[in-house]
Amino acid sequence: MNRILRSRALAALTSPHGVDRYLEQLNPMWAAHEVRARIVSVHREVDVPGHPPVATVTLQPTSTWAGHRAGQHVQVGVEVDGARRTTRVFSISSPESGPGDRFTITVRANPGGVVSRYLVERAAAGTMVHLSQARGEFVLPARVPEHVLMISGGSGITPLMSMLRTLQRRTHRGRITFLHYAQSPDHQIFAAELDEVGRSGHGIDVHLLHPELGDPNLSPAYLERLVPGYREVPTWACGPAPMIEAVRATYDGSDALRVEYFRPPRVRAGAEGGDVVFERSGRTVAGSGAPLLEQAEAAGLTPESGCRMGICLSCTTRKTEGTVRNVLTGVESSLPDEDIQICVNAPVGDCVVDL
Ligand SMILES: Cc1cc2nc3c(=O)[nH]c(=O)nc-3n(C[C@H](O)[C@H](O)[C@H](O)COP(=O)(O)OP(=O)(O)OC[C@H]3O[C@@H](n4cnc5c(N)ncnc54)[C@H](O)[C@@H]3O)c2cc1C
Ligand code: FES
Repeated sequence: MNRILRSRALAALTSPHGVDRYLEQLNPMWAAHEVRARIVSVHREVDVPGHPPVATVTLQPTSTWAGHRAGQHVQVGVEVDGARRTTRVFSISSPESGPGDRFTITVRANPGGVVSRYLVERAAAGTMVHLSQARGEFVLPARVPEHVLMISGGSGITPLMSMLRTLQRRTHRGRITFLHYAQSPDHQIFAAELDEVGRSGHGIDVHLLHPELGDPNLSPAYLERLVPGYREVPTWACGPAPMIEAVRATYDGSDALRVEYFRPPRVRAGAEGGDVVFERSGRTVAGSGAPLLEQAEAAGLTPESGCRMGICLSCTTRKTEGTVRNVLTGVESSLPDEDIQICVNAPVGDCVVDL
């Protein structure tokens, strides 16, 4: 059946909309190529008055879901109040999954956030969302090292939770040191589960830290005390940019460290000055140095965008003239007629884009 649904003949017959458009009308859980999911439940993990709530969303994907490796993320697209689909990236918090398997994402409702607030505060069982396949290289290797160190802060716990749960499921025989920083015990995501894991004594040391209440901050001395020789221990770290910067400094260039950002720091913005010409809409603005996506939005345009971090490619736009600088890597490019991701490219001087 799947072979027929994915055949060229059927694609030609259902052109220009494609077979998935028809299948979706018949049953939103039927798909030949696309990946969609039905929300099974939305469970509040953390709800501290005056602070953004965090919820775990359980998703039942279509059979087209290929599964995921612990640590990977997925793009989630939602249509809020009938508006055009908006997409953001979320790490998967449940253990590794196989084709068609249920999985979870755990989302902090970012104040003013379009997608995170929708998922935490408005979505309910039965709501359909659009997905990508799982992506990302922030994963455990096929041969898991004997000792694994995981460091996270805030909602950055999600990919590490997937790794921890996966290793538990596989009954990993080695040692795991799991360090998590949260504002307070009330802000602790997965508190009950981590407490139980810590007590189980199966070679997993769990340290839940709240520096605002007097627990030690991350420092070389603290890590050395906890894990002697930690710079040689394979380590996965995920959290807010300032925390990741502190972890990087603590590891001093060691290649045992792998990191993931939810919001990467910008190494250098573009240069202010020069004109940005949005050719198709006939608008010209004085360049502010911000990425082109932000400048286009400030000019009242609504270009396609998704992750806003150079991951999903949905903002790819043709730059016809000028130089741009990638604000994540600092690399500049002056090629004419070049397709660029406008969420992470800022103009350096005059620039013309097809928007
Ligand atoms: C690889 C990866 C994995 C991620 N995994 C998770 C996850 O597991 N759980 C999770 O909750 N989020 C995760 N994120 C962040 C997520 O993709 C969104 O950026 C976040 O949910 C905000 O989206 P939004 O649509 O709600 O806000 P937007 O509508 O995009 O933004 C609204 C406002 O919030 C600001 N903002 C945007 N993103 C953030 C942020 N991350 N922190 C603080 N302020 C922000 C914007 O500048 C803007 O002012 C991940 C991001 C990446 C790149
Ligand atoms: S919005 Fe995802 S790459 Fe630009």
